Order: sequence, then C-alpha cells, then structure tokens
Amino acid sequence: NARGLSRRQFLRTTAAVAALSTLPACSLVSASRQNGQWEYHLSAEPSQAELVPEHQTDVLAFNGETPAPTIRCRQGEPVTIHFTNNLNEPTTIHWHGLRIPIEMDGVPFLSQAPIQPGETFTYRFTPPDAGTFWYHPHMNSVVQLGKGLVGAIVVEEATPVVFDEEHTLTLKHWHLDRQGNWKDLAIPRYSARMGTPGEWGTVNGIHHPEYTLQEKATTRLRLANVDNTLTYPIQVRGAEAWIIAIDGNPIATPRRLETHKIAPGMRLDIGLIAPNAGETVEIMHMKGDFPFLLASFTATPSTLTEKPLPTLPLNPVAKPDLENAETRHFVFEWAGAITPADKQGKGKHEFWLMNKRAWEGMSKGNIPEPIAKLERGKTYIFDLKNVTQYHHPIHLHGHTFTVLEMDGKPVTPFHTDTVLLGKNGHAKAAFVADNPGRWMYHCHVIEHMKTGLMGFVEVT
Ligand code: C2O
Ligand code: CU
Ligand code: CU
Repeated sequence: NARGLSRRQFLRTTAAVAALSTLPACSLVSASRQNGQWEYHLSAEPSQAELVPEHQTDVLAFNGETPAPTIRCRQGEPVTIHFTNNLNEPTTIHWHGLRIPIEMDGVPFLSQAPIQPGETFTYRFTPPDAGTFWYHPHMNSVVQLGKGLVGAIVVEEATPVVFDEEHTLTLKHWHLDRQGNWKDLAIPRYSARMGTPGEWGTVNGIHHPEYTLQEKATTRLRLANVDNTLTYPIQVRGAEAWIIAIDGNPIATPRRLETHKIAPGMRLDIGLIAPNAGETVEIMHMKGDFPFLLASFTATPSTLTEKPLPTLPLNPVAKPDLENAETRHFVFEWAGAITPADKQGKGKHEFWLMNKRAWEGMSKGNIPEPIAKLERGKTYIFDLKNVTQYHHPIHLHGHTFTVLEMDGKPVTPFHTDTVLLGKNGHAKAAFVADNPGRWMYHCHVIEHMKTGLMGFVEVT
C-alpha cells in the first residue's frame, strides 16, 4: 500500500506542477479569457475519486474533478460562469467572500430560485476585491459540501502581483474510513457541540501531498478551509512565514505567522521565501499538542536570487464611518432542544440560537423576518457575543467586515468576511451596508448553520 501511495503522490505532484507552469491561464476548467472577460463552464455531478489510495469513493464533484477546479479571474474584470446542475437534487452556487450583487449570491429563495436537476443558471459578476476566495453550494450543505462540492477562487490583483511560486491549498477532512467508505456526515450529538469531524485529512484531495518549490522563490500559499467542521490552527516549519492576507483580504502590514486559526470558510495567504535546495517547508495543523503534517514543499535547485516578497495592495473596502455608526448586538447561544426525529430521521434539530432565534430548514415556505434591517450606506458595528463553549466562525454575505475588537481588546483593524468567535468569544466588527439585498449571516460550521445558527440581514 505504501508503494501505491508514493506512486500516486508522484503522479499528482507532477500534474500539479504541470498545471502551475501554465498559470495564469486556467488549465483546470474549461475557461477562456477574452478581451478582459472570463468565461467558465461548471457543473456539479456525482463522480468518483481516489481519496484514500487504492479505494474509490462516490463523491459529488465540480466538472467531475476532485479537488474541484480552481476558478481564476481578475479584480475588476467580468466573469461569466455557466453552471449546470447534474445532481439529483436542486442546488445553487455561492461565491464565498465576493462582494457582488445579490442576484448572483447563490442563496436559494433569498437571491434566486433553486437550480433544478438538469437546469443551467448563468452567474455573472465582477469581483471588486483581489484575493483567495472559494465557492460552494448553498443547499443541503452538509451533504453537498461534505461530499466534495467545494473549490477555490483566485482573484488576481488588477495590477498583477507576481510571486515566483504560487500554490492554492484547500483543506478538508473527509468523513471516510480507511477503505474510503462514507461515515456519518452529521451526528446530532456532535452537531450540538463542535460538529462532526471527518477523519481523512487532505490538502487538494490528497493526504499529505508533497510539492516542490524553486529554491529562493518568493512564494505565495493560498490556504482555504473548505471543511464543514474543523478549525485548523496553522503553523509553518522550515521557513520564515508571513501572514499577507486574511480571508482573502491583504493586511496593511504583513506579520510573522506564529499560529493562525482558520475555521470553516476562512482563508489565509502566507508569504515566504523558499529555502535552499533540498530543504523542506512543512504546513502544519496544530491539533492540540499533536501537530499534523498537512503538506510539504521541498526546494529544488533554481537560478533565482534572493529578493524581498512583493507587497499586496489593500482591497477597496469602504471605510466604516465609526462616529456615526449604529451598533447591533448579536448573541450566539446554545439551545440544545432536540425534538425526536420522525421515522425518516428528519426531526427538528434546533441546537443553536442567534438572538434567541433558530432558523432550521430553509425552504420557500420557511423564510423568517430578517435578523436585522439595515439602511443602505450607513455604517454598522456588529457586536458579536458567543455565550457557548464552542467556537463559531460567523460569516456575512455580500459585505466585508473591518474587525475592531476581539475579546475586549482593540486589534489592528483587518478585513474579513468571517469572524471567528472562540469559546465565549466576543468581537466588534464594522462595515458599511453598501450592498442592497437580503444577505445570509450564519455560522460556517455547516452543522451549526443547519441546526439554527443562521439568519439574514436586509439592506435597503
Ligand atoms: Cu461560504 Cu453562506 O457561505
Ligand atoms: Cu459566503
Ligand atoms: Cu457555530
């Protein structure tokens, strides 16, 4: 079995390198860029993948591929994505972190009708921000995301910022046993706690992939947590690593990466200089006291000479007007009310409350009042309080927060679409409500979202 693994890793690594050498054109999806316009054909369908070496697993996949194709496009340039639903159930596709018009946000009932099996829906948008984002369905999420419909979006800077090496790493623990058979994606007693963890850890669909870097290369690693449940505390060994962007958004002053937590939905861009040939950089998942290796990069000989890391321009996120801001309070609470499941196992599971309210089961007939009504153009400070002992990555669609305070302490303001509240954590995050529409606002631990921790804000 060890032989199969290394052979397979070799093949995958070669494929990855081949793909990278053709950047920035997108070789992985049928895509084309013409006259500053990007066009993609994307589908979702049942497929198979060899996630556990030498075992085939039935998955759901974009364009039949695992990992899903990375969508590349450029800040300020229009993108057209012809999406066809080849699943046996309805779906919609959401472009996580992109500040685009509500009609393109991919949320059933709030922004569009569900896309039925066999139907095609064309998404058109122009990303205003550059960075690392991702895409996923917004229906039956435990299953659709859990079984593989998760992919990265790379939005290049309007004025290209060039690193010698760039790698996108999507992190996901699949709910598989060692034979590649599915285990439960959601177990209620875990849904009511931290969520049900998958056991088969992968980066880009591979367990412990090994990549190469040209020695001394200026390197950008784009990490995206596309997992349903797990938070990855990230460390890098073997090179001095810098945080250059958080959740897609460059930070004003890069800082040394010690340990940085990325919860479901969150991203992290790391900048580093590749070491000398033969040396290895390791991306670690600091699980408690037990570090796990996620991926490794071995430096190969090159003719590159050492140079500083390029700097990233900040995204054009409107500056909150804090003087005239209005504060809205949100309390995230444990409800723990389990109503026994009916014979189909479809009982109401309401484990979590947002301001004393649980929204469980999204359907045409089950759209509640907005959790907040906001006035277009005005600045709001969301005061987020987690009164549970589990963490919650709180995500808002269509807008980008400027985080002001974490756990009672002011922070150097940074932009994000997802604020991670730790156990009993507290945060203050401001934003200008400049995008009209009904925007989902939810915990990105998918089981928490599905068992109550979701709502939407209305900007008019
Ligand atoms: Cu990744 Cu509703 O979001
Ligand atoms: Cu989103
Ligand atoms: Cu949560």
